[in-house]
Amino acid sequence: MIETVRCSDSVSGTVLLPGDKSISHRYAMLASVAEGTSVFEHFASSRDCHSTLDCLKSLGVEVSESGDTVTVRGRGLYGLQAPGDVLDAGNSGTTMRLISGILAGHSFMSVIAGDSSLSGRPMGRIIHPLRQMGAEIVSRENDLPPLRIRGGSLKGIRYVLPVASAQVKSCVLLAGLYGSECTAVQENIPTRDHTEIALKEFGAGVRFAGNWIEVDPGPVLCAQRLTIPGDLSGAAFFLAAAALAPNSDLYLPLVGLNGRRRELLNYLNQAGLNLTIENEIEEAGEPRGNLRVRYNHEFVEGKLPPIRGSRTAALIDEIPVLAVLGSQVAGGVEISDAGELRIKESDRISAIALNLRSMGANVEETPDGLHIPGGQTLHGADIHTRGDHRVAMAFAVAGLFAHGETKIHDAECADVSFPGFWDALRSVTHFNR
Ligand code: S3P
Repeated sequence: MIETVRCSDSVSGTVLLPGDKSISHRYAMLASVAEGTSVFEHFASSRDCHSTLDCLKSLGVEVSESGDTVTVRGRGLYGLQAPGDVLDAGNSGTTMRLISGILAGHSFMSVIAGDSSLSGRPMGRIIHPLRQMGAEIVSRENDLPPLRIRGGSLKGIRYVLPVASAQVKSCVLLAGLYGSECTAVQENIPTRDHTEIALKEFGAGVRFAGNWIEVDPGPVLCAQRLTIPGDLSGAAFFLAAAALAPNSDLYLPLVGLNGRRRELLNYLNQAGLNLTIENEIEEAGEPRGNLRVRYNHEFVEGKLPPIRGSRTAALIDEIPVLAVLGSQVAGGVEISDAGELRIKESDRISAIALNLRSMGANVEETPDGLHIPGGQTLHGADIHTRGDHRVAMAFAVAGLFAHGETKIHDAECADVSFPGFWDALRSVTHFNR
């Protein structure tokens, strides 16, 4: 499917965001091994989270959906059943990496596979710690999926994360529920902490000592009734669009404001964006609030602060749209320490550089980042998304500020994290001339 995007001079109105993808994965997985029936309101509509639900169903878990309410009947910590077929994680790295931690605690054999993008993504980062814990795992050459996992009798480990990755941290912590003693994970660069928060909420023993996170084995997890906040990473595309379009006034209700994710808001505020948070509340350890962003020309005339070090890890999913934003504000943006972006759903560094250049922009690509001069004129072009949802949505934003029409190819890939994205974009973009 091709979506055509045209120049816009106002981004105004209200966007209802889908439920947070990272939180939805974790709630569904923990609910599946809890005691009792959990109910989640505003569960993510994203295709990725449905890959998680489908895997859980294949593992014997009863899951039902009504609108965006998902009910999961827990089977207890060791209660998953051997699947009759290969588990399909689709496009979702979070599904494959997190569920592997739970599968490693079960004594049956299972195989988990994904689509062509996921089949090219590195799994050594979870295979090594899970093998240290005692799971048997076989992969394709070079630690690539599919994975064949036979779990059971794991031991606890103390594991220093070799890479800043919430998925790896979460995989080891989930496997730690099945250890014969405590498992601890050290992260030197902070990453999203939804797993730690959700583990506590479901009743697991979790402790923090410096940058070590320790989890107790063998908990009885309790079913929960929780409401999932809107996805801040989905909000990022609309924040960027409103930041650049004169006359914008955009409202995003009930967005997740987790401390490790809201670096995006701190960053945009620091860059001078007129962004306010109203009615912030916290539920189940996850803050949420309403965002309002209004255009201010000082932001567009300024510079985005450099994205490097721990800021890169905190903004990892937002970098595609921040790169587009950088090309439009006067001072540009410099992105470094972002080698992880090359092994996301696509090589995002190369996808950003290629597509910005095809729109006429000047971009310098480095092994781990991008140097993007500011104030560049974009021209409508054919955007090759490589089937990557965040590339598609980032370049939809670019198209709003380009001369002529921008055609986003394989636009349906936005459904991986944001079904309804194209309708939402049309509903808030206006052209007055
Ligand atoms: C996620 C962690 C990040 C992020 C991904 C979601 C999660 O991946 O890019 O979209 O839910 O844990 P890494 O752990 O590979 O950095």
